[in-house]
Amino acid sequence: MKVSEIGFGAWAIGGAAYAGEIPIGWGKTDDRTSIKALKKAFTLGVNFYDTADFYGLGHSEELIGKVFGNDPGVIIASKAGHKLNADDRIAIDYSYGYLIEACEKSLKRLKRETIDYYQLHVAKVKDLEKGECIRAMKDLQQTGKIRYWGISLNTYDPEPEALCSFKHQIGDGFQVVLNIINQKILPLLPEMSRKGYGIIARMPLQFGLLSGKFSAYTRFSPDDHRRERLNPQILEDAEVRLNPVRELAVKYKTEPYTFALRFILSFPEISTVIPGIRNEEQVVRNTNDLRILEPDVMKKLQDLYTNDLADFLDKIKKFG
Ligand SMILES: NC(=O)c1ccc[n+]([C@@H]2O[C@H](COP(=O)([O-])OP(=O)(O)OC[C@H]3O[C@@H](n4cnc5c(N)ncnc54)[C@H](OP(=O)(O)O)[C@@H]3O)[C@@H](O)[C@H]2O)c1
Repeated sequence: MKVSEIGFGAWAIGGAAYAGEIPIGWGKTDDRTSIKALKKAFTLGVNFYDTADFYGLGHSEELIGKVFGNDPGVIIASKAGHKLNADDRIAIDYSYGYLIEACEKSLKRLKRETIDYYQLHVAKVKDLEKGECIRAMKDLQQTGKIRYWGISLNTYDPEPEALCSFKHQIGDGFQVVLNIINQKILPLLPEMSRKGYGIIARMPLQFGLLSGKFSAYTRFSPDDHRRERLNPQILEDAEVRLNPVRELAVKYKTEPYTFALRFILSFPEISTVIPGIRNEEQVVRNTNDLRILEPDVMKKLQDLYTNDLADFLDKIKKFG
């Protein structure tokens, strides 16, 4: 598959959703705005759309299905493994039967015959070793329900599942977290690439923290999962910790969000970067002026991670 270097992260367009009292979305959305964003992205050359059955509890997939349907020029990645139990709590299910059924439901919502790339949402080594989820993915591939498949790796500890996949030659790709604040995946990228895995980089803006638009006084609505994750303590800390990043972006005359995307695109192993996008303005911003960064700037950003941002990431981790 040939994917655009910028893909469309479609979690936020799923709209507000809850697991009991816990917000699992990015607050309210207007479907007309989301649809315009999807269409604008395609016009600007974005051919890769990353969604999941859990985003808006199916609504993100429905919108993508409505806009693109079976269009062969559009590459759709979805995920399964997260669900809500009868008591409205988040449950993880990688059983054979569940994955087969989840895929059928996603295909219906997406109005497609095939999902181009299907991901185990955040499967653990124990799930992979059990083997059921691998059998399900292989059977889905054989019956033409999916073309390729892979694993979306853990945000803070990607190594165990990556190494297990290398060892047993599992899957065709990985979804990884890579951004200026979270560089944990870097040591694994060369091996992933050597083994021929496609690599999707998610959370490029660390939930918007690297977009440059938040301050210590920003507050999120109760239906936005960032209310907990980007709480006042984290936002206050970010103002200080991200100063050197802001200064570098200014020095190189680049908007902060562009600078954040350029950092990731400068790693040749990355197949596509998927910023979460809500509206047309973000589509335009996230597809503009994307050149790779000079090696000396890359070194500065990697040194900054080693010397300070890795410690900041440990603090962020406490909030999920
Ligand atoms: N486990 C998994 O597999 C997993 C987990 C997380 C994410 N993902 C995927 O990765 C995608 C991206 O990650 P993410 O959405 O978590 O985080 P992200 O891309 O780091 O941040 C997305 C947020 O940043 C803001 N934003 C985006 N572009 C902007 C711009 N140009 N200027 C200002 N603000 C901008 C928007 O926030 P506002 O809402 O404030 O406008 C947007 O919702 C998701 O949509 C999803 O497809 C997968």
